[in-house]
Amino acid sequence: MNKKLIVANWKMNPQTLAEALSILDSVDEYLGSLEEQELSLVFCPPFVFTEEVGKILRTSHFLHQSELGTQDVSADDNSAMTGEVSGPMLRELGVRYVIVGHSERRWKLGESDEIVNKKLKAALRNEMIPIVCVGERVRDDNFKDFLKEQTLNTFAGLSSDEVARCLIAYEPVWAISTTPGARPDTPQNALESTSLIRKALITNYQLPITNKFLYGGSITSTNAREFLKNEGFDGVLVGGSSVNKEEFVKILSQI
Ligand code: PGA
Repeated sequence: MNKKLIVANWKMNPQTLAEALSILDSVDEYLGSLEEQELSLVFCPPFVFTEEVGKILRTSHFLHQSELGTQDVSADDNSAMTGEVSGPMLRELGVRYVIVGHSERRWKLGESDEIVNKKLKAALRNEMIPIVCVGERVRDDNFKDFLKEQTLNTFAGLSSDEVARCLIAYEPVWAISTTPGARPDTPQNALESTSLIRKALITNYQLPITNKFLYGGSITSTNAREFLKNEGFDGVLVGGSSVNKEEFVKILSQI
């Protein structure tokens, strides 16, 4: 059986490197207490901590069960782009995963499907694994059409091999912990959405879709197990709870 994947999206947290290292210390201690390597972890720190976090992930109990990720990548590999970080720079730091299309970037920072699509291509071009986030803002009567359109726009122009290299994260915006009134989705509902996303890709690309699917949105130690034990999900994408070290270790213990 494939190991479940837990992706920690630290967002713009923590505020200091010392705090970041302290989260990793706690996780390392927990990993050391396990008899077997049962977990597969990806840490996506803010850019400024990428290098240091990458060094830690190559040591101790992180070795062979943790990978370095980032929360964004520039659509361009080499151009004058103030404030951007390119795919080649990330590769040089040992980054293997890149989150693209996160709802905070789509809805709060105005990234269109077209921009997300370019970033997705940049991640692939630089041989990183994109964690492609899709999800509706509201679960209304149109959410299925919305999800289908967002999926097709996001993946537009990719070859079948490229689609196959993506990890897909279903993250309904209304379930993200920072959305006012947020509540986690249920595995049942989320599976309806992942099957919709899968179908849209199959119809459009005439492909067998064997991608891994993650769920993200208000994952805590209380609901992590129901997603992690469900065969329909290959793992979870954890935001707020991933920078609370006690809570994050509890989430890991749900596997
Ligand atoms: P959350 O965030 O776990 O805080 O809801 C998930 C995400 O934004 O990826």
